[in-house]
Amino acid sequence: MKITVVGTGYVGLVTGTCLAETGNHVCCVDIDERKVNKLRNGQITIYEPGLEKLFERNLKEERLSFTTDLKEGLEDSEIVFLALPTPPGEDGSADLKYVLGVADHIGKLLKDYKIIIDKSTVPVGTAEKVHAAIAKNYNGEFDVVSNPEFLREGVAVEDFMKPDRIVIGTTSERAKVLLTELYGPYVRQGNPIIFMDERSAELTKYAANAFLATKISFMNEIAQMCERLGADVDMVRKGIGSDERIGKRFLFPGIGYGGSCFPKDVKALVYSAKEVAYDFAILDAVTEVNERQKIHLVSKIRRYFNNDLAGKKFAVWGLAFKPNTDDIREAPSLEIISALLESGASVCAFDPEAVNNVKQIFGDRINFAETQYDCIENADALIVATEWNEFRTPDFDKILSLLKDPVIFDGRNVFDVQVMEKKGFHYESIGRSS
Ligand code: UGA
Repeated sequence: MKITVVGTGYVGLVTGTCLAETGNHVCCVDIDERKVNKLRNGQITIYEPGLEKLFERNLKEERLSFTTDLKEGLEDSEIVFLALPTPPGEDGSADLKYVLGVADHIGKLLKDYKIIIDKSTVPVGTAEKVHAAIAKNYNGEFDVVSNPEFLREGVAVEDFMKPDRIVIGTTSERAKVLLTELYGPYVRQGNPIIFMDERSAELTKYAANAFLATKISFMNEIAQMCERLGADVDMVRKGIGSDERIGKRFLFPGIGYGGSCFPKDVKALVYSAKEVAYDFAILDAVTEVNERQKIHLVSKIRRYFNNDLAGKKFAVWGLAFKPNTDDIREAPSLEIISALLESGASVCAFDPEAVNNVKQIFGDRINFAETQYDCIENADALIVATEWNEFRTPDFDKILSLLKDPVIFDGRNVFDVQVMEKKGFHYESIGRSS
């Protein structure tokens, strides 16, 4: 099939590349000329494990192409994915200017039947708005479908190639047939394609993310209780997770959820609820707990240093909002670093992928180390902010010899409490007695 993907961010580039991988011809369109030139020249613009190899192969075999010209991108294609940003406004609402702007443009260019697919996370009712924006300038046949993306950064290729499910919101039989064919190779194991109406599909995406965010905030509150009651959150997590109704996954407490999706989507759903005069009480609490949790580790640090952080040097391991990505959007590490700097402390940070992105925020207000060990030299304490695998079994003796004092604040519970005690560290983590 010939496919167009508009927008080459995380979702667009993964979608385009993975659709090309099964033999489709995909043209990706983006207004950012520099980005398009880079991609055309075989330079990948995001870090996503496994993506580069697929990207290079499909580019070489000419199944994947890039352009800034929407007209050229749409030529001969039957299916058009919109993978555009929907940035949050001050009030939490999702801004649809990019989605509707492109829809308007598509309306002016359409000549024959196409399926226009909303891949971005968009508020309920957007498919109707996109339909209206296209219909303003085109009165032929076309379908607008909601097909939300559930991929996770860091495992996006795997998630795309073998999705748990594919949700397709459309009542058009023609679109259903074409999309069943398109997604056939991705659901060979028998995972379902779930058809529903557009509005339900749009809400499904928000419900999924809001539910997962709720799970995390709930566990962060249980961790707070564990700290106060002398219980161990790892044990409680295992104890409840073995109940299939709860499930083992997504129960890890930490320093709060970040990324480009959960914080934005939870707020957008609260906003949608307000618009229909409903008070979505749980979700307000989910956001509040997350904000509290982001600075929880800083409170522990302040307590340990008797509220005097001026002149102290902190080593921070991990900057990305989670491992296996260079994405720092809403990363808890940023708030922790800002709080330390405001208190007069200095920071040296290490991250395997996200340093360049963080440099754009803090400039030379913090130092960056080439290795995780350079980072801790002479530091008053080590802070673990992202659970990259390479932090899990470090050389503790080396850490002991490099740190000024053997103090570790672990926001991701990567180390074993007993091991740390035996090694002689002052070790504080989340929801576990130390
Ligand atoms: C999330 C969803 O998991 C995807 O299904 C969805 O498609 C995506 O948003 C999106 O809407 O585009 P992602 O933001 O890539 O994916 O990251 P997650 O792996 O879900 O992690 C989100 C945050 O939750 C991270 O900050 C992570 O550290 C935190 N988290 C996750 C916890 O604190 N505890 C956990 O047990 C799991």
